[in-house]
Amino acid sequence: MRDEQLLELLTERPGEYISGEEISRRLSVSRTAVWKGINRLKEQGYEFDSVTRRGYRIVRLPDRFDEVSLRLQLGKLTSWGQPLHLLDTIGSTQDLARELAEKGAPEGTLVIAEQQTAGRGRQGRVFHSPAGRGVWMTLLLRPQQPLQYTSQLTLLAAVAICRALRDVSGLDIGIKWPNDLLIGNRKVCGILVESAAEDGHVRYALGGFGIDVNVALEDLPEEVRPLATSLRIERGEPVDRTAVVVAILSELETLYHLYNREGFAPIAALWEASALAIGKVVTVKTLQHTMTGIARGLGENGELLLEQPDGSITPVYSGEVGF
Ligand code: BTN
Repeated sequence: MRDEQLLELLTERPGEYISGEEISRRLSVSRTAVWKGINRLKEQGYEFDSVTRRGYRIVRLPDRFDEVSLRLQLGKLTSWGQPLHLLDTIGSTQDLARELAEKGAPEGTLVIAEQQTAGRGRQGRVFHSPAGRGVWMTLLLRPQQPLQYTSQLTLLAAVAICRALRDVSGLDIGIKWPNDLLIGNRKVCGILVESAAEDGHVRYALGGFGIDVNVALEDLPEEVRPLATSLRIERGEPVDRTAVVVAILSELETLYHLYNREGFAPIAALWEASALAIGKVVTVKTLQHTMTGIARGLGENGELLLEQPDGSITPVYSGEVGF
């Protein structure tokens, strides 16, 4: 049974339920095959209402980016997002962006996918990117700077995306060091910046941004549900993904120019203003040990400055913050 055949049946009588038994009879497949087919459609972004003995009813079609409108709206607000590579399914947008970067693609090149099958997060974690539900994208940058400043770019991205998402959704969103965006204490966006260097200088940086825009908790594996949320969940209604992409790129471009003109200090100030933990007692787990202290702000290279009980300041370069 092809997914198209199943869809044809399911959309034949809009609004009505169609039983598993009818589907299996008309397509000459087993009930298990029907169930598997429904699950495949769910993975593609279809939502179903299923009622015992009545069957299945499609309640929501997958959301798709409209490429023409995306290009048009990007073009109005930012010079970034060109060239644009909009894909249906990909392993990770980071990988295609890297290939393009190696072939000399310009700064501002953007790769967006409706779905990632091997999305990755920091520290080798899996990043779930269900079809049509979020913004999964990588932006290519070619900053003229030494490699050790790359973490500043990550923090810049966190500030830009935080501002953009607040603007589009009206929600109260904050940054958790170094670069997760949270609503309450649940994550709505993850950021992964990967870079390639030569002689200690950045050749290019790949800003990978994963935003749970219209994700429902059922779209995610059970173990991450208690920690995750989406703009749709928090607002109680779907949010326009195109508006999210455009707002993010436009904020990113503005802050990147500010950073190139005035350095990291104004970015650090904006970051501190949106950070959730500043002035609070936090616990930071690093690879070596766990530290507790008051988060006081950012150091010059984007490290978290932690005030110890004896008043001394310890810089933390990587780790997981809890508060
Ligand atoms: C994290 O939370 O640890 C970072 C998540 C970064 C996810 C984005 S989605 C687009 C890009 N492609 C990937 O494979 N990862 C990043």
